[in-house]
Amino acid sequence: PGHKHHQPTGPSTPPSSPPTQSLSVQRQLYERDFPLYKQPVEVGHFSLDSERRFFNDARQLRYYVEPEKSCPNFNLRDGYRGRFVKRDDGVKEKLDHILRWILANRSKLQSKETAASSSPCALGVDIVTWRGHLTKLLTTPYETREGWLLAVTRVGGTLYISEVETEAARQDRENRTERHEEMMYWGYKFEQYTCADDARSLPDPGGVVNTNEAFCTVVQTRLAEHRLLFSGEVDCRDKDPQAPSPPACYIELKTSLEISTPKQRSNFHRFKLLKWWAQSFLPGVPRIVAGFRDHDGVVVSVETYHISKISQLIKNETNCWKPTVCMNFCCEFLSFVKSIVTEDNPRDVHLFSWEPHREVTYSIYRDSQYSFLPDWYIREIHH
Ligand code: A3P
Ligand code: MG
Ligand code: MG
Repeated sequence: PGHKHHQPTGPSTPPSSPPTQSLSVQRQLYERDFPLYKQPVEVGHFSLDSERRFFNDARQLRYYVEPEKSCPNFNLRDGYRGRFVKRDDGVKEKLDHILRWILANRSKLQSKETAASSSPCALGVDIVTWRGHLTKLLTTPYETREGWLLAVTRVGGTLYISEVETEAARQDRENRTERHEEMMYWGYKFEQYTCADDARSLPDPGGVVNTNEAFCTVVQTRLAEHRLLFSGEVDCRDKDPQAPSPPACYIELKTSLEISTPKQRSNFHRFKLLKWWAQSFLPGVPRIVAGFRDHDGVVVSVETYHISKISQLIKNETNCWKPTVCMNFCCEFLSFVKSIVTEDNPRDVHLFSWEPHREVTYSIYRDSQYSFLPDWYIREIHH
């Protein structure tokens, strides 16, 4: 009863109609013109050190060093036992680092528009979240395996969106095989082979890989009517001082199994390039450097992918994903959330949930385990 479908019909819905209770994920509903997505602007950045401490600066930014040969022979297994410090992924940081950045940089956020409006405390953005959460939204219409849970709280007119680990994801995390654990290290080892600490030095493959360390960009942009502020980890930048300003100088690093059959190439285009595209397109990172490896973790080739050329690259693939479906779904989800989460209260959480082959639904909590905005943030932002 009362189970209505939120169809992405746009602004034709009368403003008095009650919010609908679920959102369809079907691809064909989102096959229309590409929505407005403004060029993302970097409004700041921050670093997390080897102990995951926050710094309001770029101390962890690294510089890409092109491998000597096109076939470099990096051994990604090297150092897994002995020179690896792994971040504890059981610790849930929620939006804390972004919130710290916001408190340290509030003056940069208050736009003329907001300063002149009746709510001078407002941030001047509709949505605050991690880039990774938006990546999950973009890929949802094509996802068949993993669902998600997103907690949403409205404060000062801004919607904060923070992921909650699903039960299935927790079980996967706690039951990873030794092989999977090691393979998760390979991506970081590739970063160490290709990145230096400053523009004049060389990578140090003999050093320790510490996955606590991170450099994150904070960007502002607009998706249709939604003003977004989000942060995402950036692997490295172009070391040429003449390179364009961030985020255009940033480079995403990836590893993938070498492609030997047409079937593998098709799967790479249909599944992996979707995730790679979504992740880098959002913050305006223009290129990906990919290390292709064999089953023993030896890199056999390195290739560059330009984000703006990926949609061309996949066009000949049958049953392939479309960027416009990703962006329109994300846009529609944010509209859906705005229509549901109208109460402005840091104690309230609307938990949006999605499982493959289902619609997006939600439930409401007050003062629950899902509340995620810390007191130190609410105290500061409320005056
Ligand atoms: P690869 O993607 O090259 O395998 P990112 O590429 O986003 O900068 O992440 C760096 C590395 O972290 C990844 O390298 C991978 O090893 C690991 N990683 C990232 N996201 C992951 C996830 N959802 N599950 C497991 N490992 C992940
Ligand atoms: Mg990274
Ligand atoms: Mg990477």
